[in-house]
Amino acid sequence: MGSHGEKVSVLLLLCLSAVTIVVVKAEDPYIFFDWNVTYGTISPLGVPQQAILINGEFPGPNINSTTNNNVVVNVFNGLDEPFLLSWNGIQHRKNSWQDGMLGTNCPIPPGQNFTYHFQVKDQIGSYFYFPSTGMQKAAGGFGGLRVNSRLLIPVPFADPEDDYTVMIGDWYSKSHKVLAKYLDSGRALGKPDGVLMNGKTGKEKDQKPLFTMKPGKTYRYRICNIGIKNSLNFRIQDHLMKVVEIEGSHTVQNVYDSLDIHLGQCYSVLVTANKQPKGYYMVASTRFTKYQLYATGLISYEGSKAPPSPKLPAAPTGWAWSLNQFRSFRWNLTASAARPNPQGSYHYGMINITRTFKIVNSVGTANGKLRYGINGASHTDTETPLKLAEYFNVVEKVFKYNGIQDTPPKKTPAQLKLQPVVVNQTFRNFVEIVFENHEKSVQSWHLDGYSFFAVAIEPGRWSPDRRKNYNLLDALSKHTIQVYPKSWAAVLLTMDNAGMWNLRANTLERFYLGQQMYFSILSPARSLRDEYNIPDYWKLCGIVNDLPKPPPYTI
Ligand SMILES: *[C@@H]1O[C@H](CO)[C@@H](O)[C@H](O)[C@H]1NC(C)=O
Ligand SMILES: *[C@@H]1O[C@H](CO)[C@@H](O)[C@H](O)[C@H]1NC(C)=O
Ligand SMILES: *[C@@H]1O[C@H](CO)[C@@H](O)[C@H](O)[C@H]1NC(C)=O
Ligand SMILES: *[C@@H]1O[C@H](CO)[C@@H](O)[C@H](O)[C@H]1NC(C)=O
Ligand SMILES: *[C@@H]1O[C@H](CO)[C@@H](O)[C@H](O)[C@H]1NC(C)=O
Ligand SMILES: *[C@@H]1O[C@H](CO)[C@@H](O)[C@H](O)[C@H]1NC(C)=O
Repeated sequence: MGSHGEKVSVLLLLCLSAVTIVVVKAEDPYIFFDWNVTYGTISPLGVPQQAILINGEFPGPNINSTTNNNVVVNVFNGLDEPFLLSWNGIQHRKNSWQDGMLGTNCPIPPGQNFTYHFQVKDQIGSYFYFPSTGMQKAAGGFGGLRVNSRLLIPVPFADPEDDYTVMIGDWYSKSHKVLAKYLDSGRALGKPDGVLMNGKTGKEKDQKPLFTMKPGKTYRYRICNIGIKNSLNFRIQDHLMKVVEIEGSHTVQNVYDSLDIHLGQCYSVLVTANKQPKGYYMVASTRFTKYQLYATGLISYEGSKAPPSPKLPAAPTGWAWSLNQFRSFRWNLTASAARPNPQGSYHYGMINITRTFKIVNSVGTANGKLRYGINGASHTDTETPLKLAEYFNVVEKVFKYNGIQDTPPKKTPAQLKLQPVVVNQTFRNFVEIVFENHEKSVQSWHLDGYSFFAVAIEPGRWSPDRRKNYNLLDALSKHTIQVYPKSWAAVLLTMDNAGMWNLRANTLERFYLGQQMYFSILSPARSLRDEYNIPDYWKLCGIVNDLPKPPPYTI
């Protein structure tokens, strides 16, 4: 079991002088990346369009890390607009400075660079990074981020032959700037133009295999939905998938013939090449939509050039199927792993809830234009990042705490209040968050800085008596949860990661138009045990630009 502050301490007894004892504290390994972010032209749907490339690649390069690695990414912004990357699902314990959201970081100006330094502390699993500014995610700039278990930590399945990352997502053929202009003018985005799998539709002439499998061997596929609007169903012709990990939790290993992957979610599955040697299609298709958009990706068996069957397996229909699948995902309580909050919320079912925060998403308007909201307010970003306003003690010049209540207004207003939405939480409180969706579209919510126990999703409206249906034993600890139409979802977590953390709709249009907010968790101690200091290499922005740095946190 992973534990906080685990470091290898080596005692070296120097033989020459028996009285000298030297303690060497080995630091966790570093991995370094230099990333050039530029525009490039791609034509995944047959029409040339502007995309965001990282070192010339779309999707961007994979980060392959191991638990507790220090990851250093020097990002050069070669775009003509500000840029930030966020590390979806990485908890950044004590370190919201590296979260890369507009509420925590000054965006990297065009032509400049910024270095992210973060540790993938006590985490394992499959994640991704993405550009968090404006509509940039609709142009690329995203890629896979995996955290392998350390060598000494047993993994609850045999080492796969290889490890493949599959980025699926719906896609628009217009540039992110055009999409942003539509939204700024008050118009909705409408339906996407296609679905991509690792940057391709699979409809290209001479489709090349994305992956190769050796007959008889087992492979790990990590599938993330980095799309813009839709839940996708993922399946592989004739092959079953054994789910082993979801967003950082090792699961009870059930076998599925298809998986619903909602926006922002990542699943790891094992696939064995135990069928007739030939080609097989992976399929990702839109769910809960009147239209049917899909992408395919080819897997070939080594040594065989035989083509795949053109007959694609069908997706399930309706969302009841999807809800049942959610309920079948369980945490493997006996698997050893780097656990989130090992001592704290592991027995999460026995901890008393100290605060319930219930939020209702809605569509409305502000200043006559389309906006999306939470409990009647629609978030707006500030020029001075919220975290900096707090750190420099100038909050009152930038935002007000608790602009929304812990419970939604009885009737959701059509007019949404435009404001930065920040709710403060008491450090280490055990909190229940209920997401209620009164709308007809599926919602997907993500919380930065944490993983939470996804204890229930049910149709209808939430009330306290629904708690009796919570899974208080082996719910998955994850960072993203879907909420079906006219349904609710509940999650439990300990607010033990001090910082400023974004809670957001993964639907890009909703995120861009205000369906997001921040939790501020301040440790009263102002101690380095609870939160790191602002990195000294940081460039500041907004009203704190010329302010003297406050006294640093101390031990
Ligand atoms: C990034 O761009 C700079 C200048 O254009 C170039 O010197 C450098 O090699 C590039 N780095 C990578 C990793 O592509
Ligand atoms: C990723 O890292 C692991 C552990 O260091 C290593 O075994 C594996 O070969 C790496 N995979 C890739 C694709 O680099
Ligand atoms: C920008 O890149 C240079 C060259 O690699 C590096 O020395 C410097 O620290 C970087 N600046 C920031 C703010 O990360
Ligand atoms: C859970 O993990 C243990 C330990 O690695 C493993 O032996 C067991 O098969 C797993 N259980 C299930 C139901 O997947
Ligand atoms: C939880 O609340 C109940 C009822 O108020 C109380 O009896 C119990 O001691 C509390 N448990 C913990 C662990 O605080
Ligand atoms: C949250 O903010 C309110 C209003 O500013 C303040 O009264 C309260 O003490 C704060 N609570 C915490 C836990 O920081």
